[in-house]
Amino acid sequence: MPPNISIAIINRNDASRNSIEALLKQLGELVKVVGTSADFIEGMRILQLTSPMVVMLEIYDPATGVEEIKHILSRFPRTSVFVTSAQKSSDLILSAMRAGAVEYLLEPIELADLAEALQKVGRLWVAKPAEPAQHGKVISVYNPIGGMGTTTVAVNLAAAIAAGGAKVALVDLNLFSGDVASFLDVNPTYTLSSVTSNISRLDSNFLMSVMTKHASGVYVLTEPLEVDETMDITPEQVLRVLALLKGVFSHVIIDTGGSIAGCNQTTFESSDYILFNTVLSLPALKNAKRYLAALAKKGLRKERVKLVINRYLPRADIQVQDAEKVLDHKVFLTIPNEYKDVIDSINKGMPVVEISPRSPVSKAIERLYDLIKTCG
Ligand SMILES: Nc1ncnc2c1ncn2[C@@H]1O[C@H](COP(=O)(O)OP(=O)(O)OP(=O)(O)O)[C@@H](O)[C@H]1O
Ligand SMILES: [Mg+2]
Repeated sequence: MPPNISIAIINRNDASRNSIEALLKQLGELVKVVGTSADFIEGMRILQLTSPMVVMLEIYDPATGVEEIKHILSRFPRTSVFVTSAQKSSDLILSAMRAGAVEYLLEPIELADLAEALQKVGRLWVAKPAEPAQHGKVISVYNPIGGMGTTTVAVNLAAAIAAGGAKVALVDLNLFSGDVASFLDVNPTYTLSSVTSNISRLDSNFLMSVMTKHASGVYVLTEPLEVDETMDITPEQVLRVLALLKGVFSHVIIDTGGSIAGCNQTTFESSDYILFNTVLSLPALKNAKRYLAALAKKGLRKERVKLVINRYLPRADIQVQDAEKVLDHKVFLTIPNEYKDVIDSINKGMPVVEISPRSPVSKAIERLYDLIKTCG
């Protein structure tokens, strides 16, 4: 059940204000109108006093609308702005959305549209204040080249930990080609760039309000939708986001790929463990050797880097001992090759550990979680 949603209404037109209030009343317990005003300045005073979750702001021309929305968001960053207007103008809609409004409702407002918009806010809002600082474990799952199952491991490890009742964040830091969202079949309104572009107002409450809670219990933060936005993300921002996540979640699982530089380097330096994922093929091992050496060179100690062999086939030409010898690194865990179980889970948008708990892959992931626990 979403929490009670507090709402303020700012609308110059008495009849519209009353009809919106009447509409909200029909939603019963779900909502609470904390104040209404015909005037923007007076409306801001109401926001000051009540910090509502939503403000329904009437706009009538793009310039004033943008100014008012920005003004509200600069002072009340956690408040969602729903814009209402009697005009159906794409100019007005676009400028309101760009200024940070999350919904545009055409007057007269339909009850179903309003209810749907409010449900979204309710799901995103975390009523409880963030718990006092704790030191969550940061675990990154990494392969520089990709295609070795880092997303499979990250998603399933996060789901397995969440199933045990812990509070888990899953962050997609595969900034240019993330696929956590499709593995979990989520379509988040907010992404990492919503967080980093608002870095000055970032606190753990704001961070929680932009994360998407998946049915498995995992809180997800995905990579930006636009590649352009990805370019703007800096290592300092990643550091800040991870520090906050560590304060709220007991486990922060990060899906990564690409070179050991920039945001990735920061991520690894912030990680308690780096699960280096590989398969037992010659080209994969050759790359693994180069990158394990590079991690060591960057000062990321061997104990922090755990070697995970994915798609393991017991009777294959290359065996665990061979890999350990070539890489001069102990294998932490093997995950069996069970293509059907994994691909079924990807296609259904649900973790293997949830839809096929008896799969050898699920058992291996459970073991991975146990091993991490014993590592302290
Ligand atoms: N244990 C496994 N057994 C069989 N197939 C697997 C296993 N793990 C992953 N796969 C398959 O390997 C493919 C790649 O997996 P995944 O997308 O998790 O890798 P990735 O390293 O995240 O790749 P990308 O570079 O695309 O991000 C998927 O098609 C998946 O079905
Ligand atoms: Mg991936």
